[in-house]
Amino acid sequence: MVASTIVTREIASILAARGFRGSGRLIDTHRGRRAGFAESPGRFCPAARLRYTEDVVLRAFLLGVLTTIVVAAVCGYIALSAGPVPANADAEPGWLEIWAANTSLDATLDREAPKGPNPVAPTDDNLVAGVELYGRHCAICHGTAQGNASPSPLAKGLYPQPPQLATDGVEDDLEGFSFWKIKHGIRWTGMPSWESTLTDDQIWTLALFLGHMNKLSPAAEQAWQKVRN
Ligand code: HEC
Repeated sequence: MVASTIVTREIASILAARGFRGSGRLIDTHRGRRAGFAESPGRFCPAARLRYTEDVVLRAFLLGVLTTIVVAAVCGYIALSAGPVPANADAEPGWLEIWAANTSLDATLDREAPKGPNPVAPTDDNLVAGVELYGRHCAICHGTAQGNASPSPLAKGLYPQPPQLATDGVEDDLEGFSFWKIKHGIRWTGMPSWESTLTDDQIWTLALFLGHMNKLSPAAEQAWQKVRN
């Protein structure tokens, strides 16, 4: 609003400097009073006329902004209801969609994900427990130790397709980031929120397994090789 007023003032002073006087209607004194001006602009009062011109330009500017918003909303509705925006899942997401989803995810993770270390220690037992939880809840979408070589039918049909974690690993991610993604899910994807199914302790145990997938203890590695999807 402040910016638009400044722009309007600039435009108005340029118009006034070039001798713009406006039509009879624009210097109508009633209009002036309605707009809250104390004095009538008068025929020979350049300062009041400048304020009038500002008033008119501001109204035109706001009307332009409003018209643009209404036209954009109508075009958006027509694009959605007439069918050119695709609703099918058997496609690759476009770059704009990927950029928007990733940018919002990164910003949310920076703001909300826990930054400290994983409270679940990387012991043999905890890693095996992580593999078991993964086999029960996650392998159907994120695959087995075979990675991209054996995605499930469900994983092949999702939009976007879930990463097969043995191949597209998340070992480099902060375990707090994985914790947040598992707990809250990822909007605009098939990644569910596990908040209502798993405890925080179980979610940290899963994050521990994901963070150590490429350096498992022998017992955990053995359990991992047995996971099926
Ligand atoms: C119904 C399918 C489905 C299930 C079940 C599922 N996920 Fe996901 N998950 C996805 C999809 C789809 C994505 C991809 C999101 C994207 O493209 O950014 C994803 C993303 C992720 C990511 C982020 C990967 C990355 O590269 O940043 C992690 C971590 C993850 N899931 C962990 C899990 C865990 C742990 C479980 C089990 C508790 C699980 N997921 C269960 C579908 C699923």
